[in-house]
Amino acid sequence: MRIADVKEDIDHELVSKAQIDSKIREIAAQVSEDYRGKNPLLVAVLKGAVNTLVEFSQAVSIPVQIDFMSLSSYGSGTVSSGQVTVRQDLSADVRGRHILIVEDIIDSGRTLAWLVDELKRRGAASVEVFALLSKPSRREVEVDVKYAGYEIPDEFVVGFGLDYDERYRNLDSIAVLKPSVYQGE
Ligand code: IMP
Ligand code: MG
Repeated sequence: MRIADVKEDIDHELVSKAQIDSKIREIAAQVSEDYRGKNPLLVAVLKGAVNTLVEFSQAVSIPVQIDFMSLSSYGSGTVSSGQVTVRQDLSADVRGRHILIVEDIIDSGRTLAWLVDELKRRGAASVEVFALLSKPSRREVEVDVKYAGYEIPDEFVVGFGLDYDERYRNLDSIAVLKPSVYQGE
């Protein structure tokens, strides 16, 4: 789906499909170099990171394995405990593995900080992060993102996996929603 298909809901495009593709290719080339011979495990956080994982895993030039985790975080802004619950766990044993977490976007950083700690606690040999997008102005917890895509302003975005109320995940670029979409709900 393209912006033209939902243009009544979209304020403006923030990251085009071409920009997404070129950034993923650039990071994939770097990761291929850094992880050659290491058989890394790509861990994607459901559901938002799926689009990035699929494109990224095809763009790397080394063998990788993939796995998924579904997390729910409580206290976004209000309770702000950074408490995270695992809704669906990995199927892989991460002990001794080189893990690259694939994320759609880092906001407060709480989910990611928790996940990095958890995978280290489980005995991973290394844990690094690739996030396609980041909102630095929203950061509450320091997270070391080795492979960072685009920094964006503090605006709510959808597309390329990112949703608003489970909608717009299948948009092929990243866009800012019109406020009327939220006000209508
Ligand atoms: P954090 O723990 O606050 O960093 O939460 C990050 C998660 O919040 C992301 O993985 C997304 O699922 C969600 N999120 C944060 N900002 C946006 C946005 O602008 N659009 C859609 N989802 C977002
Ligand atoms: Mg996410």
